[in-house]
Amino acid sequence: MVDFEELYALETACFGNSWTREMLARELENPLSVLVCDYRDGKLAAFALGRVIADEAELFQIGTRPDLRGKGLAKALLEKLHAEMRGRGAHTCYLEVRSRNITAVSLYEKSGYERVSIRPNYYPDDDAVVMCRRL
Ligand SMILES: CC(C)(COP(=O)(O)OP(=O)(O)OC[C@H]1O[C@@H](n2cnc3c(N)ncnc32)[C@H](O)[C@@H]1OP(=O)(O)O)[C@@H](O)C(=O)NCCC(=O)NCCS
Repeated sequence: MVDFEELYALETACFGNSWTREMLARELENPLSVLVCDYRDGKLAAFALGRVIADEAELFQIGTRPDLRGKGLAKALLEKLHAEMRGRGAHTCYLEVRSRNITAVSLYEKSGYERVSIRPNYYPDDDAVVMCRRL
């Protein structure tokens, strides 16, 4: 069981204030939500959060502790997440990512995601790229 405060601290370090504490807590209580974590020296190092609804999954967030980036943690965690989603019956995983988040887009492409569409001005300051991968 993940320590909520540790998870919220990492979420905030990775995404600023995009999710409130309440949003995160509510998502974790949802039986459809899927959370996978990775630890280094007993401390939370990376997390990925998504949801499975019937045969479709969605990835909401993936984040690695800033001092541990570039070491393959996110790539490995995505594989773990996909396995968990498959185990729950999902056949496809979708995600939305800021078009200017080159690091994330590159991570997703290396992990087998393909661009499906662009949602112009989806974010106040950026377009969203919708990506998808068969699980
Ligand atoms: C995106 C993020 C999760 C990547 O985590 P990470 O553990 O550093 O990623 P990995 O080391 O597993 O790298 C996997 C791939 O991501 C891409 N990547 C990682 N760091 C990169 C960088 N600095 N520049 C460009 N691409 C990069 C590469 O394609 C890399 O594959 P490669 O090592 O074969 O080149 C991390 O940068 C992060 O937490 N960012 C803030 C939160 C965020 O934007 N999340 C994504 C949107 S939900």
